[in-house]
Amino acid sequence: MAQGRHSVFIFGGGAREHAAAWKFDESPHVGQIYYAGPRNPGMDKLATYVGIGVTEETELANFAQAKSVDLAWVGPEQALVSGVVDMFRVRGRAIFGPTSGAAGIEGSKAFAKLLMERARIPTAPFEICHTAALARSYVRRHGVPIVVKADGLAGGKGVSVCRTEAQAEEAIVRNMIQRVNGIAGEVLVMEDLLQGEELSIHVLADRNGHVTLSSAQDHKPVGEGDTGPMTSGMGAITPVPWVTDEMMATIENQIVTPLLSALKTRELPFEGCMFPGLMMTPDGPQVLEVNCRPGDPEWQAHMRRSKSDIFEVSLACAEGRLSSVSLKWDPRTAVSLTIASGGYPGKGKPDIPIYGVHEAELVPGVMVFVAGAKFIDGQLVTGGGRELSVTALGDTLQDALNLVYKATGRISFEGMYYRHDIGQRALARMRAK
Ligand code: GLY
Repeated sequence: MAQGRHSVFIFGGGAREHAAAWKFDESPHVGQIYYAGPRNPGMDKLATYVGIGVTEETELANFAQAKSVDLAWVGPEQALVSGVVDMFRVRGRAIFGPTSGAAGIEGSKAFAKLLMERARIPTAPFEICHTAALARSYVRRHGVPIVVKADGLAGGKGVSVCRTEAQAEEAIVRNMIQRVNGIAGEVLVMEDLLQGEELSIHVLADRNGHVTLSSAQDHKPVGEGDTGPMTSGMGAITPVPWVTDEMMATIENQIVTPLLSALKTRELPFEGCMFPGLMMTPDGPQVLEVNCRPGDPEWQAHMRRSKSDIFEVSLACAEGRLSSVSLKWDPRTAVSLTIASGGYPGKGKPDIPIYGVHEAELVPGVMVFVAGAKFIDGQLVTGGGRELSVTALGDTLQDALNLVYKATGRISFEGMYYRHDIGQRALARMRAK
């Protein structure tokens, strides 16, 4: 790597990207950070905002060229699927993330399921339905419970767990007739509902190899006890205390390595961060979905534990030198808790003043990353969805949870919502051992 200070361009303006910006800012190699996407008042303290959308690949590449940006780092799947990495590669610019073709592993659930079926990677039995009539026929033949998934990107809103035929019919109508998810719901993947514990696996991959990070666990349903509609994530822990080395070895052999090699065989080598979401069933791990980017809120927790230089690691990954860097981790446990506006995952009230973030960060071990909150007239206010990600490091999972909830108790705004039971299933499983 050349000596001196380098510039980084982050795509995305959520809590995941705020956590990445914080780590880039810590790097002695990084001088200037730019970011594009929604404006983020937390990132504004670390980086220069560039008013370009994350799917405007030509404008992003023009900016990077004009500013001689040394490394681009991509968070959102929309940017990856739309081909921002391909555009940067064509221009010969370093970028962390997969090409549009490899990002298809998240961009099309049907593609991912067919790939896994052919590579014998464990995943729920499924059918791909191109019409509402075929989807209804599947429901009649299969019965419930089932999971109905929009094929394309739906911002975390494309998955419906259907326990009754009426719920399945509603999912079909919403996707295929009402088109609530746009073209993402033109094709549906219908599959068996798996039972078990969800696990998030993050893999850094370059063209020559890969490294798998510690296990993480998100809590996706909005309500306590895993009830209510699915969200993009209400809170994450890492590492997950009940996950053994043996389980990780099975995941590596049955899922991670076969996924990467199936993509490579199809001339779609995956470079960047691949994130298979798994269900740990009594019969072993099964893949629920494969994401082409870091998870949110999992990434915030991973960043709190990371003791590596994110610039060195991301650049090495973009240049196919991942094996030349070693990843270092804090041995403690990290937790990230999503603070949302009431009504999320529906539309919550925007522009409501948020208080107490500074006081929350005075709790030792706590950092708050900004998700959708905005800064208006000198006041932090709600955006109407996920607002903040409160994170903590603790010696044990219980310690980290105590810190996160203590800090969160100092934050207040009208309609503030968060789950109080993040990590509780993991603790209960450890107690039952
Ligand atoms: N936390 C789940 C996701 O990022 O998709």
